[in-house]
Amino acid sequence: MVALTSWWQSAVVYQIYPWSFQDSNGDGIGDIPGIIERLDYLNDGTAASLGVDAIWLSPLYPSPMVDFGYDVAEFCDIDPRFGTLGDFDRLVQESHRRGIRVIMDLVLNHTSDRHPWFQEARSSRSAAKRDWYYWADGKAFGRRPNNWNARFGGSSWAWDSPSRQYYLHSFLKEQPDLNWHNPAVRRAMWGVVRFWLDRGVDGFRLDAINWLGKDSRWPNNPFRPGLRGYTRQTHRYDRDQPMGHEVLRELRTLSGNYPEVVLIGEASADTPGGPVAFYGNGTDELHMLFDFRLLKSPWQADRFGQLLAADQQRIPEGGWPTIVFSNHDQSRHIDRYGKGGHAERRARTTAVLLLTLRGTPFLYYGEELGMKNTRLRYRDLRDPYTKRFWPFRIGRDPARTPMQWDESVHAGFTRGTPWLPVASNYRDLNAAQESQNHSSLLSLYRRLIRLRKVYPALSEGAYRHITTAPSDCLVFLRQQPSPSDTDPDILVAVNFSADARTVTLSDFTKVGTVQLSTLTGAGSARPWHPAQFHLEPDEAIVVALPNGEAGR
Ligand code: GLC
Repeated sequence: MVALTSWWQSAVVYQIYPWSFQDSNGDGIGDIPGIIERLDYLNDGTAASLGVDAIWLSPLYPSPMVDFGYDVAEFCDIDPRFGTLGDFDRLVQESHRRGIRVIMDLVLNHTSDRHPWFQEARSSRSAAKRDWYYWADGKAFGRRPNNWNARFGGSSWAWDSPSRQYYLHSFLKEQPDLNWHNPAVRRAMWGVVRFWLDRGVDGFRLDAINWLGKDSRWPNNPFRPGLRGYTRQTHRYDRDQPMGHEVLRELRTLSGNYPEVVLIGEASADTPGGPVAFYGNGTDELHMLFDFRLLKSPWQADRFGQLLAADQQRIPEGGWPTIVFSNHDQSRHIDRYGKGGHAERRARTTAVLLLTLRGTPFLYYGEELGMKNTRLRYRDLRDPYTKRFWPFRIGRDPARTPMQWDESVHAGFTRGTPWLPVASNYRDLNAAQESQNHSSLLSLYRRLIRLRKVYPALSEGAYRHITTAPSDCLVFLRQQPSPSDTDPDILVAVNFSADARTVTLSDFTKVGTVQLSTLTGAGSARPWHPAQFHLEPDEAIVVALPNGEAGR
């Protein structure tokens, strides 16, 4: 077992959705000065704060905000809604002062249609930057260049009347795809990367990377019968082409000049070989990839057990896993996993999984409070994707509502009118209250994050699957990395069911101590015996065991 070498392997990362974290100027939209005001909540160096090591900021770039910042109109600046470059520099400084690293979101696949590059490109067929984007003629009888479907609905081709050609957009039509075949595009984007690294950012979360490579001969995607919308075709040619890997290898080489920097990728689950393909050989593409398999999985011990066991084998040496249950594109997991069960109890159990599994945990703002998907009326919706599929899909706005800080007006998020409504439960569910309450979900997250720091087994140790018997329980061991030390191994037992369970671990002999149970949020002084122990409905326990138990 090799000791961890990089800060991000033992870090806990917190995703901030800037629109919704904290507004400082009363315009109803979160901003950078607001984030700075709240940094102590994230980590003030004491046990009274959450204790995270890094923040990932969803896009802050100037943008018309059709896709809420994922449509970038200028890569080397800050949107005035959020503040200025000066504010950003102060955020980096203030974060670093508290030991919090800063990870920017970087959108490589596309820009906004308002980006000056695209404005220039669409100005005429002979424009200097025309081939910074993908253009194609229509087919006879006004047909589009091919059958490709955009991720957010409809065709991937939009007609540009003045120049009488189509341009390609894999997401919204306001997000034209950049042509990564063009070396000038690469040079420009690597300039952007240097711009932010030189300002002191510690890494990037890379958006939608499996879209970078496409077949620019424009073959039709094969049709898939019986399915609807985006899944009505196999996305063989419009994404996942080898060029994407080539681009990421270039980026990795460039980031090598900044040795502490981390690159984290978001790729679709159904990309060939799975997102793990973007680790490359483990040292030549990305450091980490989001693994959404648990996030998409039903709440079942067997399923979680299988996915976790498979994962340990597939990540190449040099790569590092991630654990993620919620983000700005998904329904919040308290509702997702809570379906048909006791949501609050399961949220506590999920917190244990998030913070005891092997890999870097990513928290989504508010999950530590148990914030739920907010019920919204159609007229409150802002996200075009959410509107398009409303009310048939939950969409993304319900998971993007303002952070619930306290019981004052608008939950302390703004003194103006919030851009999305604050959830109506904020008087009973907010950070101020949970901070005072030792048995709150927030207190549980804080304690789990501290346990992760205290026990090297949790941050560095190998993962060993122990059992999923009796059914609905998952038991695994995190093995303390250096056998010569006295640090304990950590055993985690999770009851996924709404009934009590009794577990027997016949291979284990030594007595341990429960460091934390989700029922109480605390540990217990009573000895814990592996021969037979009890788990209450939806309970998870974290047990310290003398290391070397049950072999290595
Ligand atoms: C990613 C982002 C999502 C965005 C899309 C297009 O999936 O997470 O929010 O809409 O890419 O950039």
